[in-house]
Amino acid sequence: MKVILASDHGGISLRKEISGLLEEMNIEYQDIGCDCADSVDYPDYGIPAAERVASGEFDKGILICGTGIGMSISANKVKGIRAALVHDVFSAKATREHNDSNMITMGERVIGPGLAREIVKTWLETEFQAGRHANRIGKIADYETK
Ligand code: RB5
Repeated sequence: MKVILASDHGGISLRKEISGLLEEMNIEYQDIGCDCADSVDYPDYGIPAAERVASGEFDKGILICGTGIGMSISANKVKGIRAALVHDVFSAKATREHNDSNMITMGERVIGPGLAREIVKTWLETEFQAGRHANRIGKIADYETK
């Protein structure tokens, strides 16, 4: 599995925590920043990361900003992306099982590093259940072709 990881200035320290987790889990990943002292714009990192998941270059993506909301809105503008804003372990599992989410977004100002690590670990280790859920995400994909 190949994972792309990105944040704006509001998510740098949580992004570093998650890159450490990916290393512990022996998961191949690329961290595309930001490495910024100043304020940056979250779409400048979230959209390119989402495009690289949608193209198939990466299997999954993890995006972090202050709230996770801006990154979620940005990533979900890219066709083929199902980015889930998640701040609890139950939703991390459910969004893989039901939505086949290919990106997860979190807010560094919302949750602490311990919970974020549990969320990401659960999300990466949970499989899509397909079945009736495949039909539902198929309807989203159909809408994207209109
Ligand atoms: C940056 O101040 C903040 O707006 C951003 O990190 C994010 O929370 C936006 O949704």
